[in-house]
Amino acid sequence: MSGVVLKSVSKSYDDKKVINKVDLTVKDKEFLVLVGPSGCGKSTLLRMIAGLEDITSGDIRIGSTKVNNVAPKDRDIAFVFQSYALYPHMTVRENIAFGLKMRKIDKKTIDEKVEEAAKILDLGEYLDRKPKQLSGGQRQRVALGRAIVRNPKVFLMDEPLSNLDAKLRVQMRSEIKKLHQKLRTTFIYVTHDQTEALTMGDRVVVLDKGVIQQAAAPEEIYNNPANTFVASFIGSPQMNFIDCDNAPKALCKKNCARIGIRPEKMVTGGKIRFKVDVNMTELLGSEQIVYFEIGGAKCCAKIPADIEAAARLELSIREEDLYFFNAAGKRIK
Ligand SMILES: Nc1ncnc2c1ncn2[C@@H]1O[C@H](COP(=O)(O)OP(=O)(O)O)[C@@H](O)[C@H]1O
Ligand SMILES: [Mg+2]
Repeated sequence: MSGVVLKSVSKSYDDKKVINKVDLTVKDKEFLVLVGPSGCGKSTLLRMIAGLEDITSGDIRIGSTKVNNVAPKDRDIAFVFQSYALYPHMTVRENIAFGLKMRKIDKKTIDEKVEEAAKILDLGEYLDRKPKQLSGGQRQRVALGRAIVRNPKVFLMDEPLSNLDAKLRVQMRSEIKKLHQKLRTTFIYVTHDQTEALTMGDRVVVLDKGVIQQAAAPEEIYNNPANTFVASFIGSPQMNFIDCDNAPKALCKKNCARIGIRPEKMVTGGKIRFKVDVNMTELLGSEQIVYFEIGGAKCCAKIPADIEAAARLELSIREEDLYFFNAAGKRIK
């Protein structure tokens, strides 16, 4: 069993608390995605699990072992970074084999492991090339190969796709998911990209300012956000928020501070109907984003491109698509 358990883990740099009492259990073989805005503490948390950063307080367990004082190399983890950190003068084969060589593993075993990793990652024909002769995606696969050959209990990945162009990023997403299915080990994957989080994670942990905001399956995070932070961070364009005081009567029946409605739920044939003045529309192929105000709040709707929305748009919202938040931003329904 190689889950990872964090118990009240905190980290401060000087006086600044960057991770605040994080409790988290990553299940054995789970693909867990840690997502949040830049600076929220994702890398710090991952580096603490790897042992690259001391923890200020709390406990970390990998499998059944408490690892607070265990050196990174003895934690049975592999770390894949955003920058591939390949050795430019070595071939792909040498890069993948490097860690094993350092551990004085015999040549035959190394060769077998490298071949096996190359097969999994479809790198067979590139083994004798140097990194500069590879595309970005292939280089990242080499970095993954270097991690695979070590048979780690846990894979830690810190924004591994951020250096790739958009198309390749989408392709590598599914490759990493496939890799997880093949290897059947625990993955902890860090990203600032909510789409990546939703598409890749078995479970998604949303972090803000060093505090876990919500940990749940992707559908649950999207459908039932715990607070305004999660509601606005997950989903694109982001959820519309309207102050209850200024909202049309039809919208606000609850005793709440704020109402939230996703842009994709504004024109659904629901019973809550009123018209808005359109400020601008943006065509995105088969869909359009229409901008307007409700009760002084800037809002938008994502609707099919063939709906006429030049000057006025009639919204038709379903009661069940409304979210209600209290003044502290916590979801109340
Ligand atoms: N070595 C360090 N010394 C001081 N502050 C740091 C150090 N490393 C990270 N931080 C701060 O900790 C916070 C979290 O950083 P980080 O974990 O890198 O965020 P993320 O990966 O989510 O972008 C940031 O405010 C960052 O400035
Ligand atoms: Mg980071």
